[in-house]
Amino acid sequence: SHQRRVEERKRLHRIQHGQCSYTFVLPEVDGCQSGGSLSQGEHYGGSRGGASVVQRDSPPMDGEWSNQKLQHLESIMENNTLWLQKLENFIQKSIRRDAANIQSHVVNNQTATMLEIGTNLLSQTAEQTRKLTVVEAKVLNQTSRIEIQLLENSLSTNKLEKELLLQTTEIRQLRDKNSRLESKVQLLESQQRGELEDMRLEKNRLQVQTQMVAIESLERQLRVATSNNTALQKQQAQLMESVHTLIDMVATTTGTSKNTKRFQMWKDCADAYKAGHSASGLYLIYIGNRTEPVQVYCDMETSGGGWTVFQRRFNGSVDFQRSWREYKMGFGDLSGEHWLGNEVLYLLTSQGQYSLRVELQDWERISAHSQYDRFTMASERQQYRLYLRGYSGTAGRQSSLITHGAGFSTRDHDNDNCDHCKCALMLTGGWWFDACGFSNLNGIYYTVGHNIRKLNGIKWHHFRGPSYSLRSTSMMVRPYDF
Ligand SMILES: *[C@@H]1O[C@H](CO)[C@@H](O)[C@H](O)[C@H]1NC(C)=O
Ligand SMILES: *[C@@H]1O[C@H](CO)[C@@H](O)[C@H](O)[C@H]1NC(C)=O
Ligand SMILES: *[C@@H]1O[C@H](CO)[C@@H](O)[C@H](O)[C@H]1NC(C)=O
Ligand SMILES: *[C@@H]1O[C@H](CO)[C@@H](O)[C@H](O)[C@H]1NC(C)=O
Ligand SMILES: *[C@@H]1O[C@H](CO)[C@@H](O)[C@H](O)[C@H]1NC(C)=O
Ligand SMILES: *[C@@H]1O[C@H](CO)[C@@H](O)[C@H](O)[C@H]1NC(C)=O
Repeated sequence: SHQRRVEERKRLHRIQHGQCSYTFVLPEVDGCQSGGSLSQGEHYGGSRGGASVVQRDSPPMDGEWSNQKLQHLESIMENNTLWLQKLENFIQKSIRRDAANIQSHVVNNQTATMLEIGTNLLSQTAEQTRKLTVVEAKVLNQTSRIEIQLLENSLSTNKLEKELLLQTTEIRQLRDKNSRLESKVQLLESQQRGELEDMRLEKNRLQVQTQMVAIESLERQLRVATSNNTALQKQQAQLMESVHTLIDMVATTTGTSKNTKRFQMWKDCADAYKAGHSASGLYLIYIGNRTEPVQVYCDMETSGGGWTVFQRRFNGSVDFQRSWREYKMGFGDLSGEHWLGNEVLYLLTSQGQYSLRVELQDWERISAHSQYDRFTMASERQQYRLYLRGYSGTAGRQSSLITHGAGFSTRDHDNDNCDHCKCALMLTGGWWFDACGFSNLNGIYYTVGHNIRKLNGIKWHHFRGPSYSLRSTSMMVRPYDF
C-alpha cells in the first residue's frame, strides 16, 4: 500500500485558480529511485512530499558526480519551469477563452432579453394600435350618429320654421281681419254715440218742458196759497181786533179794570208798564213763543217801575227751605212772599238784555238797594248759572252777590264754589252761593229781636254785616234798555 501511494503522488498535481481547480500529471524523474534512501526520506519528511526529496538530495556533497547531478537537476528544473510556463500560457489562454465565452453568453442573454422585451413591446404596441383603432371607430360611429342627429334636427327645424311662417301669415291675416272689424265697431260706436247724444238732447228738451210745466203749476199753486194766507192773516187780525174790542167792552161794563187789563200779549212787566199800566200787582205775560201765559207780580213804582219781581219776602209767612225742583218751578204766594221759579226767570231773561235790582230793608226801617246793569242766567243744564255786571247801589260799595259766575244750589243740588262744603245746607235755602259768599236772601226768616248773630238768616253782608237777618227783600228784573 505504501508503494501505490507513492505512485499516486507521482502522477496527480492540483492547481487552484480562482474558482477553478486544474489537475495535471508531472513526468517521472529516473535518478530519484535509489533504495533505502526513499524509506529514509519517507522517514524524515513524512507527508511533506517534494521538500523531502530536496532534503534527501542535498546531503551528499562530493566530487564530480555531485556537479553533474546538480546540473541535471537544474535542467530538469528549467524544463519543468518551461513546461510550467507553457502550461501557464495554456491555462491563461483557456481562461481567456472561457471569459470570452461567458461574456458572449451574457451578451446573448441580454440580447435575448432585449429581443424578448422588444417583441413584448411590439406586441403591446400592436395591441394599443388595435385598441386605438377600435376607439377611433367608436368615435367615428359617435360622430356619425351626432351628424345624423344634427341633420335630423336641422330637418325638423326647417319644418318648424315653415310651420311658423305659415302661422305668422295666418296671424297676420287674422290681425288684418281684426283691425277691419275694429274699425267697423268704432264706426258703429260713433254712430251709436251720436244717436245717444241726440236722444239725450231730446230727453233734456222733454224734461225741461215737463219741468217748466211743473214750475208753472207750482207757481200757480203758490200764488193761490199766498193769497189764501194773506186772506187768513187778514181774518186773524180782524178777529184779534174784535177780541180786543170785546175785552175793552167787558172791562168798561164790569168796572174791574185792574184785574182784567193783564190779558195783553206782554213779554214782561216793562211791556205792561209801557202799555200804560202803572199800578203794582199781578199781570199775565207771554214769555217767548209760549201760548200759555205766566202770572207775575209787577213792581210799577220802584225806580221808574216796569220791574218783574221774582223774589219777595216781608213777613216770613212762606218757607224758603225747598228742593231744587221747587226752586225751579217756583213757590209761595205771588201777591205775597214767593219765588217765581228759576225756569221762568231763565226764559224771561233769555228774551233780551236784562238788569237786576235788589231792594232791602232792615229792622230799623232803613232801605237800601243794589243794582246790576246786566243779569245773565244760564239754563238748568248749566245749573242756572248767574253772571252779573255793572254794580251800583246803596247796599254797600261792593256787590254782596257773586258776579263772576256761580251755579244755583239747593239742599239737594250742590253747585257752589266751595270744594269741601255744602253751602245750601249750612246757610239754608236756595241761592247762588260762592264759598259760601256774602249774601243769601233765601235764608231763614228771623223776626225782630232774633235777627242778630244769625249766620243762616237773610243776609246781605255789605249792607248789614255777616250775621244780620233783614226784614224785607225783593229781587226783580227789567230790560236793560227800559
Ligand atoms: C527536456 O524535455 C524534453 C521533452 O519534453 C526532452 O526531449 C529533453 O531531453 C529534456 N531535457 C533534459 C535535459 O532532460
Ligand atoms: C440569462 O441570464 C439570467 C441572469 O442574468 C439567467 O437567469 C438566465 O437563465 C439566463 N438565460 C440563459 C438562456 O442562459
Ligand atoms: C355604431 O355602434 C352601434 C352600437 O353602439 C352599432 O349598432 C352600429 O352598427 C355602429 N355603426 C357603425 C357605422 O359602425
Ligand atoms: C184757500 O185754499 C182752499 C184749499 O186749501 C181753497 O179751497 C180755497 O178756495 C182758498 N181760498 C182762497 C181765498 O183762495
Ligand atoms: C218755540 O218754542 C219751542 C219749544 O217750546 C222752541 O224749540 C222754539 O225754538 C221756540 N221758537 C222761538 C221762535 O222762540
Ligand atoms: C203775610 O202776608 C200775607 C200777605 O200780605 C198775609 O196773607 C199773611 O197773613 C201774612 N202772614 C203773617 C204771618 O203776617
